[in-house]
Amino acid sequence: MTGPAQDDVAHVWERRYADREHLWSGRVNGVLADVAAGLVPGRAADLGCGEGGDVIWLAEHGWRALGVDVSPTAVERAGAETARRGLNGRARFIAADLATWDAGDALFDLVTVSYLHSWDPPIPRTAILRRAAATVAPGGRLLVTSHAAPPPWAGHGSGHGAGHGDATGHHAGREEAHTEAGPEAAAHRTAQDETGTHDHAHPERHYPTPAEDVAAALGLTVEGPVDPAEPNDAAGSSNAAGLTATLDPAKLVPGATMHDDTGAAWTVEEAAVRHRQATGPNGITGELADSVVLLRRESRV
Ligand SMILES: C[S@@+](CC[C@H](N)C(=O)[O-])C[C@H]1O[C@@H](n2cnc3c(N)ncnc32)[C@H](O)[C@@H]1O
Repeated sequence: MTGPAQDDVAHVWERRYADREHLWSGRVNGVLADVAAGLVPGRAADLGCGEGGDVIWLAEHGWRALGVDVSPTAVERAGAETARRGLNGRARFIAADLATWDAGDALFDLVTVSYLHSWDPPIPRTAILRRAAATVAPGGRLLVTSHAAPPPWAGHGSGHGAGHGDATGHHAGREEAHTEAGPEAAAHRTAQDETGTHDHAHPERHYPTPAEDVAAALGLTVEGPVDPAEPNDAAGSSNAAGLTATLDPAKLVPGATMHDDTGAAWTVEEAAVRHRQATGPNGITGELADSVVLLRRESRV
């Protein structure tokens, strides 16, 4: 998709990065570190990579990693840090909009998408996750980590503090805590709007469930009780490949096999909400909820 809406996405995110020296701490996301530590390193792609903390961690742990982000400034910072650490050749970055980015023939053993939320402006997240899954090599994995709920301190009025990151400094998270007031803090608040860590709860913002992220990645629709206000027309239907196009959340258990809309088979390794402690604004501690989806693409359909 091109046009004004997508231009806005690039522009808005670029401004968020350009407004600050760093938006994130540079530390690896905890879920990625945990999952990747159990895998044999290969080719990885991190979609919506920000300033490259996860890509750099992967490169330092034996992967050949590619990061893609819509912000040229974020990507430039990631590249500079890669060079500073002598990782050129193991980590590389592309500035591109994931709504239109074409991976060509490239396939990856691990495709990771961490906290790819953009409510303002919105992005075609479902389509992006479907495209992400299409770049997973047979036998490879897709990891999608998302905010499953706003942080407990949303509405507590500060506007500072940890977002999807952890202000306590260990690698459970990434985002730096900034406690200073003034223009910096205002810029930080703006960025945190995308992670739901702003100082007001926004009930209209949708936080995906693991089932929704699995369905998005596989081109399916989540089955559910039919809400008269929002009927699930697709329930029980089948797709062009003649396969059931719906996903029953009750069947999303580790070891379950699912088929995407092309007929490719995937094994569910995890589809759950993980909780972690984090410190938010003004030292408020609380539990953050992450939706974690880990799918393995089977070698054969
Ligand atoms: C909340 S940040 C997460 C960054 C990083 N994955 C992390 O966990 O720290 C969301 C990132 O997605 C990027 N992004 C948003 N929409 C995008 C799009 N359409 N194409 C590429 N990147 C996008 C933003 O520039 C931003 O770096």
